[in-house]
Amino acid sequence: MSLNAYIRYVCGLTGTKAMCREGGCGACIVTVRAKRYPSGKTETFSVNSCLVLVFSCHGWDIRTIESTGNRLDGYSDIQKLTACLHGTQCGYCTPGWIMHLNSLKDKNLTMAQLEKSFGCCTCRCTGFRPILEVIKSVAIDAPPKLSQRLKDIEEISTCAKKCQRKCSVKSDCSDWSLLEDSGSVTKIELDFGKYKFYKVYEIVDIFDILNREGVDSYMLVDGNTGKGIVETFEYERVLIDISDVMALKTFKVDQNLILGANVSLEDCITIFTEISKTESDFEYLDEVVKHFELIAHIPVRKIASLAGNLMYKRAYPQYRSDVFLLFECLGAEMTVQNSKGNTYTLRLEEFLHHDMQGIVIVNFMLPPLNKTTHLFKSYKIMPRSQNALAIVNAAFLMKLDSKNNVQKASIVYGNISSTFVHALHTEEYLTGKCPFSNETLQGAIKALDGELVPSDNPPEATPDCRKKLALGLFYKFMLSICPTTSTEPIYRSGANIFTRPVSEATQDYVTDSSLYPLNQPVPKLEALIQCSGEARYANDLPPQKSDVFGAFVLSTVHSGEVDKIYENEILEIEGVLAIYTAKDIPGENTFITPGLQLQTEKEETLATTIKYFGQPIAIVVAQTEELAAAVAKKVRVDYKNTKKSAPVITIDEAKKDSSRYIAGEGTLEPTSKGTDVTKIIKGVYEIEAQYHYYMEPLTCVVQPVDDMFMVYDSTQWMEMTQTAIARCLNIGQGKIVVKVPRVGGAFGGKITRNGQVAAACALVASKQDRTCRFILPLQTNMSIAGKRLPCQCEYEVGVNDDGKIQYLNATIVEDAGCCNNDNVTSYTSSSFGNCYDISGYTLNTATVLTDLPSNTFFRAPGACEGIACIEHIMEHIAFAVKKDAISVRLANMKANNTDIPEMIETLKQDVDYDKRCADIQQFNKDNRWVKRVIKINVMEFPVIYYGNFTVMISIYRMDGTVTITTGGIEMGQGANTKAAQVCANALGIPLDVIKVISHYSFVAANDVFSGSSITTESICYCILKICETFDKRFAPVKSRKPQATWLDIVKSAAEEGIELTSCYMMSDKDESLSGYSAFAVSIVEIQLDVLTGRFQMLRVDLLEDVGMSVNPAVDIGQVEGAFIQGVGYFTCEKLVYDKATGKLLTNRSLTYHVPLCQDIPIVYNVKLRHNQKNTKGVLGAKTCGEMGICTAHGITLALRECIMASRIDSGYDSTQWITIPVPYDTEAILKALDVKLEEFVFTTSD
Ligand SMILES: Cc1cc2nc3c(=O)[nH]c(=O)nc-3n(C[C@H](O)[C@H](O)[C@H](O)COP(=O)(O)OP(=O)(O)OC[C@H]3O[C@@H](n4cnc5c(N)ncnc54)[C@H](O)[C@@H]3O)c2cc1C
Ligand code: FES
Ligand code: FES
Repeated sequence: MSLNAYIRYVCGLTGTKAMCREGGCGACIVTVRAKRYPSGKTETFSVNSCLVLVFSCHGWDIRTIESTGNRLDGYSDIQKLTACLHGTQCGYCTPGWIMHLNSLKDKNLTMAQLEKSFGCCTCRCTGFRPILEVIKSVAIDAPPKLSQRLKDIEEISTCAKKCQRKCSVKSDCSDWSLLEDSGSVTKIELDFGKYKFYKVYEIVDIFDILNREGVDSYMLVDGNTGKGIVETFEYERVLIDISDVMALKTFKVDQNLILGANVSLEDCITIFTEISKTESDFEYLDEVVKHFELIAHIPVRKIASLAGNLMYKRAYPQYRSDVFLLFECLGAEMTVQNSKGNTYTLRLEEFLHHDMQGIVIVNFMLPPLNKTTHLFKSYKIMPRSQNALAIVNAAFLMKLDSKNNVQKASIVYGNISSTFVHALHTEEYLTGKCPFSNETLQGAIKALDGELVPSDNPPEATPDCRKKLALGLFYKFMLSICPTTSTEPIYRSGANIFTRPVSEATQDYVTDSSLYPLNQPVPKLEALIQCSGEARYANDLPPQKSDVFGAFVLSTVHSGEVDKIYENEILEIEGVLAIYTAKDIPGENTFITPGLQLQTEKEETLATTIKYFGQPIAIVVAQTEELAAAVAKKVRVDYKNTKKSAPVITIDEAKKDSSRYIAGEGTLEPTSKGTDVTKIIKGVYEIEAQYHYYMEPLTCVVQPVDDMFMVYDSTQWMEMTQTAIARCLNIGQGKIVVKVPRVGGAFGGKITRNGQVAAACALVASKQDRTCRFILPLQTNMSIAGKRLPCQCEYEVGVNDDGKIQYLNATIVEDAGCCNNDNVTSYTSSSFGNCYDISGYTLNTATVLTDLPSNTFFRAPGACEGIACIEHIMEHIAFAVKKDAISVRLANMKANNTDIPEMIETLKQDVDYDKRCADIQQFNKDNRWVKRVIKINVMEFPVIYYGNFTVMISIYRMDGTVTITTGGIEMGQGANTKAAQVCANALGIPLDVIKVISHYSFVAANDVFSGSSITTESICYCILKICETFDKRFAPVKSRKPQATWLDIVKSAAEEGIELTSCYMMSDKDESLSGYSAFAVSIVEIQLDVLTGRFQMLRVDLLEDVGMSVNPAVDIGQVEGAFIQGVGYFTCEKLVYDKATGKLLTNRSLTYHVPLCQDIPIVYNVKLRHNQKNTKGVLGAKTCGEMGICTAHGITLALRECIMASRIDSGYDSTQWITIPVPYDTEAILKALDVKLEEFVFTTSD
């Protein structure tokens, strides 16, 4: 059992969350105090509770989020600061961040060190900026403004406990120990029948156990972090915990540095840092430290061992172990011991082929290297800046003699192929030569080019990309060691890898305090309980022994039918209770109800006809979540009638088959056509899909109550859940009560797709007559859940010399997946015009059916794609007519759109645009290998009201407090907080008497889904209407008692029998609600490392028009978060499928890369347009939940310009427009750059 399962299901402490269960997301982080080697001291550190085996926690003092502060004991300063600085949105990630910060806050770290320390945590909502501010506030060099905020909080902090200590003060109060530190070193032996667990303290004990138990199936458990690496991890029969074997954890320096085999990677960093300072022959460890800091992240590194890492490299040769790379390049050796007590040494390459059965690695030896003769550097190029395996990693060591001739070269690469280690030919070529001439360099590049043959191994980047990277890194290394006298200045910046300074940010908005609490930037109402883990999500219902867990069995084919499921094999497994298939469904086998908004077809809950690889075909029911998930992967299934052909997984393939092509409703018809056509421009723009990566997976808990079902669902659409269950169980909707406490991130992905989970969960609950919990493991979630629709835009535009469009013909085709539900083509067409005059536009839209899960809504569905397409076309026009891209946009602007031109001017002034442009031009002239670009982007987002939303407000007569419940699901966007602000304002009462409670299907019956940004406005509108009703009801009382307080009025009204509860349902038919446009302008400055394809956003300034915001701080959060989600969409989030089977290959946190906190702009400024009241909408505000993502495409435009600048330097035709697919990841960028190998030189002439 993992520590996470123990904490949640045995201790019932649900504050600690889980998402990926592979150490990748940070939702599960807890803090530990334990005695550690090699320090021998009790240390505080954090771990991913999903990776740690609970039995390995012997002697650990584990603190979960519940221990850090809560409503009974008072909240900690960090919790309060996180709430005050708006560091939570959905709140699902928050406990993980806070626990990790707790483990670091007393370590005297600088802001730079702290910012770097959070590669372990993911937040999909906030865009990280506010969380980074909290983190930096505990730094020893925090600027006064920031540290003062923490001090202010400290001063108002008092703890409810008797000690009355300040919560931030270090204290030895240890009332939250789960396990006592007995200090004992007694061996532990736990016998679970099939499995045995041992804990040992001596190496000899390991061999004793192996002699007794045999070596057929055993594992030496140290960090157990390998569990996060291996896709299908299974424990061996015998587990021997060696995490406290001191002999494996110590180090010493004799001639070599001798490191115990199981020294953790983080402890290595400490040791290396120390030794590099004191021992001159080990100065090279400085470089090793930089590389180790890029391995995984702190919680993993703190428990992950050197030996464990290398054993994985041995077991999975393709695994790009950074430890292996570095140690092999440096010529490290290892000592191993066999059961006879014999020890011997192995070189690392030897070890890869050595039989390690029953053998223990004892230590590693790193050699001393004279710094005057040895030049060492290593590189790791990742898809994002932290917590990712390398696309390619490389380490270079050169020993030079006094004449700068190479005596020995060691060139090692990772992720070239499973057999490639050293570039032997290049090493040989360089030996005896001085490498600092163009000729030798080119010779080496040629040798390297010949011997690097990367394997084709999806989802890894293409062989071409990895080769380009490998060559670029070698050149980078050569530039870095070449004396500056031998390199021309223009090439020198190629020697560096980007470093990241401490991030900076501003938020600029004006508020009118006379309107407070309206327009007030109050913290989210639930922020504190989110920071303490008290906020409950669907699966936080207290556990009961009788609970059962469901897990989907996924198809391993993309077509056909299930012939046979070998159920008996599964039912024999202890703890497995049942397996259900479609035939067990008493009602209809569909989780979609055609007729509901945008739902046209039924979709099977458990497939009888398989439409894509990884479709749910059965449910395994087991006593624990881990068992259900593990067993579901093992179910043996026979299929019939499967197609031999490969699945159709791209728009181009689907377009060839007319039966897959469905014309879209969204079209644009021209009303006029210009005649001044001097240029015709044609092109195709393609954008791939995006996975939501909500931190709370698709989750449902169904509890049979009386003859009804209580459903706790993580959904954006309660009606969808209710109807899915009613149809599945063949019962009336009235027997189903859906309660949504809150949702841990959704972004459109929980509008319809959770219906499948809810129906399956209810099926189990009904069959077992017990509470069933259904929580999708990440791999399942990513495989079955539809994503943002990939889209392809083919266009032809006729323009005049100024780039003004005379006519435009475009067709946008979107990939619907296996079914056409959740169609977004009308959103695409309504956004395609953006802020431009569309009188000459012809647009047709269509969807195609592919053999993939049914795609679905994702933040600004269709609109984000539509805007990106037209912006791409504008860029193409500007390129073709050789005009400034903004002047082309202005030439095409709608006649009546004065907002965007004005906003462009405002922002240009604010950010010193013209001066920065000039500086950048000079920079690009001076630098061949780094290119910079600054780019302006514009967006107009059409806001429309749809559907219906209900709100119910109740006032309580004894104290005048108020509750609100709505159909507008709170999923991080701040709907509840704004609802309370509007209510407080309308009723003229303080905010703190209002409580917004969970969402209930019986209150908000038949409500539409929460999405498209308009949810908050819609419920605020309902609240205003209800408050008007109360005003009318209370008017007689008020006129009789003009001086009466709120409580007096309420009491009197109650006494007079006036109803104190009221409901209102708004609908899109309400004439006082009409759509409007929201605007944004952004200015993005980026720099691109031409040799690696990696880039940095140096500065982003966003100016967004949100009208007169109900809560500007919440809106800033929406803008910042959505923009970063867009950064992921357009640059690093990539879905790769196996072409032969249709299997999603990037279905893990290690393979699907969302941005992390070091990926955000270094300077990130957001301004809400000053003094703008929306003349339409609700209360003068404009919605902003989706707009941020629609401005992020600007990064691709900036990157394209950087690429073009480099291509011109390479001598390519400057008038050639190149097609670059989205996302602009390293692969796409390197391909587009297409640097020529002969350009890798030190000087332009020798
Ligand atoms: C999220 C995440 C990100 C990661 N990113 C990276 C990365 O960027 N780069 C990288 O290189 N790695 C990465 N890793 C891998 C990580 O470094 C390894 O998982 C880790 O080093 C394994 O150490 P462990 O102590 O946890 O091994 P365990 O998982 O406990 O054990 C692994 C194996 O080693 C064997 N073993 C352990 N000690 C000995 C010994 N003394 N003698 C013989 N056999 C032994 C065990 O029997 C077992 O088979 C990542 C891991 C995670 C979870
Ligand atoms: S890191 Fe443990 S659940 Fe993601
Ligand atoms: S607030 Fe971080 S994931 Fe939602």
